Amino acid sequence: MQYHIATYGCQMNEYDSLLIAKMMESQGCTATDDPAQADFLIFNTCSVREKAEETAIARISKMKCYKEANPNVRIVVVGCMAKNLGESLMKKRRIIDFVIGPDQYNKIPEILFSRPVIPTKGNRKYRVLTDFDSEENYLGQSAKLLSPFSTHVTIQRGCNKHCSYCIVPYVRGPEKYRETADVLREIKEAADKGVSEITLLGQTVNAYKSGNDTFATLLNKVSEISGIQRIRFVSPHPKYYTPDLIEVLLGNAKVATSAHIPLQSGSDAMLKKMRRQHTVDEFLRIVEKLRGANPLYGLSTDIISGFVGETEADFEKTLEMVREIQFDSAFMFIYSPREGTESAKEQEILSAEQKWERQARLVELQNEITLQRNQLMLGRNEEILVERPSSKNPEEWVGKTNNFKKVVFKPVGEIHPGDYLVCNIDDIRGWTLRGTPIAQ
Ligand code: SAH
Ligand code: SF4
Ligand code: F3S
Repeated sequence: MQYHIATYGCQMNEYDSLLIAKMMESQGCTATDDPAQADFLIFNTCSVREKAEETAIARISKMKCYKEANPNVRIVVVGCMAKNLGESLMKKRRIIDFVIGPDQYNKIPEILFSRPVIPTKGNRKYRVLTDFDSEENYLGQSAKLLSPFSTHVTIQRGCNKHCSYCIVPYVRGPEKYRETADVLREIKEAADKGVSEITLLGQTVNAYKSGNDTFATLLNKVSEISGIQRIRFVSPHPKYYTPDLIEVLLGNAKVATSAHIPLQSGSDAMLKKMRRQHTVDEFLRIVEKLRGANPLYGLSTDIISGFVGETEADFEKTLEMVREIQFDSAFMFIYSPREGTESAKEQEILSAEQKWERQARLVELQNEITLQRNQLMLGRNEEILVERPSSKNPEEWVGKTNNFKKVVFKPVGEIHPGDYLVCNIDDIRGWTLRGTPIAQ
């Protein structure tokens, strides 16, 4: 039997898809990229913005032809939209057989393989499993590797923050942390298979605590695992960039020299309304420490344009902050009211066009800054983690610097994904850096 998984949303969903993939394979199922070949079509969905849900629903609807061709095909919707829409999802799209929320994935093998479930209207209750489970941390389990040299490991699930615009706490439930020993076990297993780059995941990943461990001590422990060379993490919250964490970020050579710090807005009034629990000034202090120690420290961020109540003056403050900080990259989103969240109760004044227009101004500014930040890399010798041949030109390969910049280069001699090599960054085309490997 074959399964096909399509994943939407954040890296936490990517990790969960790999966890589910492992469960499917433990039942003797193999992965296929081709939905036409699959016995199980699994959709791991996101609800963060309306568009994310619409995209997944449109894709799921397209599966009707496979179900018609073979009625034994099972369509399984998992992830945040499964939790958010629950049974109503089945009513919306009758081709869906199972709706399974993020704390119920351990039931997938039983549901799909042990019991010969003939999905009927009558057993709908059994087909919709979306309850939260405060105990479920997938203890002792490991996800399939993302790649032979780099993988994600979730260390925290759920979120306690309740930012006023955000649906995540409602679809992922309250925060829970994996035990340090379990995290280290999964990473060690990955390292033993050749993985050298680890990305630790959680919605407020740097709030991590377990026993006597904090995120800072966990980073140090991960760095001691033989074979681990680069450690990254998403998504941290500005509130938890504590002095001891910053010390580890700057002092531990295995922790990559780039970080994500979600700004959301450059206006204190908006940050307060968003319930972000940090001010513009506190955010700037973190940036100062990291960039003060290393001007090439890579910084990425998330920004929402057109939040409910955002004035032109508020938005200009965001542009000002972006200009001042010079992020290397930014994920920029148009505010999308999500039912059930606090800010969705407030009537929007901005039209869709006005929100788009703000977003376009922000994107234009960030594009200029990204180019300038990349230009600063010219002339440097940088260690690259080799990823893959370039899709545009198979003679060229693509890798990433420690501060998370993509570099395209022509290899000299044999090369493999997962190799580390030093390149001289000697050109830039568009935004993309180009390098020449140097003999060592
Ligand atoms: N836990 C992370 C973010 C998770 S969601 C954090 O706190 O940074 C990823 C990003 O989606 C958020 O940072 C935010 O910028 C964006 N986002 C969340 N809800 C949104 C909404 N309702 N409309 C637009 N963007 C949203
Ligand atoms: Fe959403 Fe805020 Fe939690 Fe991030 S910290 S997941 S934005 S509620
Ligand atoms: Fe989306 Fe769920 Fe992640 S709502 S952003 S997939 S936690």
